[in-house]
Amino acid sequence: MRKQLIMGATVATIAIMALTACSSRGTTSGDSSSTIKKGDTIGVALPAKTSQNWVLAKAAFEKSITAAGFKADVQYAAATNTVPDQQNEVSAMVTKGDKVIIVAAQDGSQLGTQVKAAKAAGAIVIAWDRNLTGTKNVDYYVAFNNFKVGQLQGQALLDGMAAKKATGPYNIELFAGSPDDANAPIFFNGAMSILQPKIDDGTLKVASGETKFQQVSTQGWLAQNAQSRMSDLLTKNYSAATPTLDGVLSPNDTLGRAILTAVKAAGKPYPIVTGQDSETASIPLIMQGIQYSTIYKNTQDEAQAAVDLVVTLSKGQKPATVVDKNNYNGVITVPSVELTPILVTKANAAEAYKDNPTLEPLTK
Ligand code: BGC
Repeated sequence: MRKQLIMGATVATIAIMALTACSSRGTTSGDSSSTIKKGDTIGVALPAKTSQNWVLAKAAFEKSITAAGFKADVQYAAATNTVPDQQNEVSAMVTKGDKVIIVAAQDGSQLGTQVKAAKAAGAIVIAWDRNLTGTKNVDYYVAFNNFKVGQLQGQALLDGMAAKKATGPYNIELFAGSPDDANAPIFFNGAMSILQPKIDDGTLKVASGETKFQQVSTQGWLAQNAQSRMSDLLTKNYSAATPTLDGVLSPNDTLGRAILTAVKAAGKPYPIVTGQDSETASIPLIMQGIQYSTIYKNTQDEAQAAVDLVVTLSKGQKPATVVDKNNYNGVITVPSVELTPILVTKANAAEAYKDNPTLEPLTK
């Protein structure tokens, strides 16, 4: 008992010492800001390149970081052994003394130890595009409004089907992203906020009966997983002349194209399929009326928003953030900077991409 008490006191003393050390070095979110200055290194840990947005992210960060007068240290997680690889990269950034560590997590729940070390070393931790979960050691979250992305997808699915066939009921199937990505359930919940009432009133029918996130998620956001699930769904539920499949909720373009591939292989007519990311492989499909919609999330703007936040902190100012309950990470609601996603269909593609020299020509 006595030993325990002494140990307890020692722990408390260490905790107080640690706190004192932290505040004198300025590691609590309010005052750590002043320690960031031009020339400091910003580490950016990106996930594996499962979609084009991640491919674009490295150059986007390097451009924004360099233009703001900082040094960029941008790393991808390897395609295999992805989670340990990203853990090692974040640890290495801490060891190198990167003053800001921006993380787009491969698995948002697996970086708690690394971001704890980052905070202990006095770094600012920013979750980017994907939130970090199960930790208090994340200062900010910069992303597009993920719930809004899902709502736009759900509404696009309804609008696309209504444009083809004026009245329901409509037969649909649902797909979601990877369960290790904190975004995936938020996209899905956003879409279901639009679709569930229509399922409840009989406008929409899901022949497979699979409507729960766990049933419809796609491990690793991998195209082959979505393609094989779509093939199975077609064989089991749509082999006969009826029901016909009118629409598929797809959480992004990569999976949307995989779903369309499975439909084609089954010899069925294309249903309305949604997407996300404005990938260069999907825009021509949208213009041809094969994929119905995508979402435009400008990666350069998203990287710039994170760098702007760092610039604000480096001036000793408090960044403007929002509280979004969807960004509760199981421990804290991470103060967020949210950008607005844009729904794109054939109807507005040229207008939506008009300032983007890479995407705009694809609409011609
Ligand atoms: C991103 C999406 C992307 C998906 C798969 C998500 O976290 O927000 O834009 O399509 O990951 O890489």
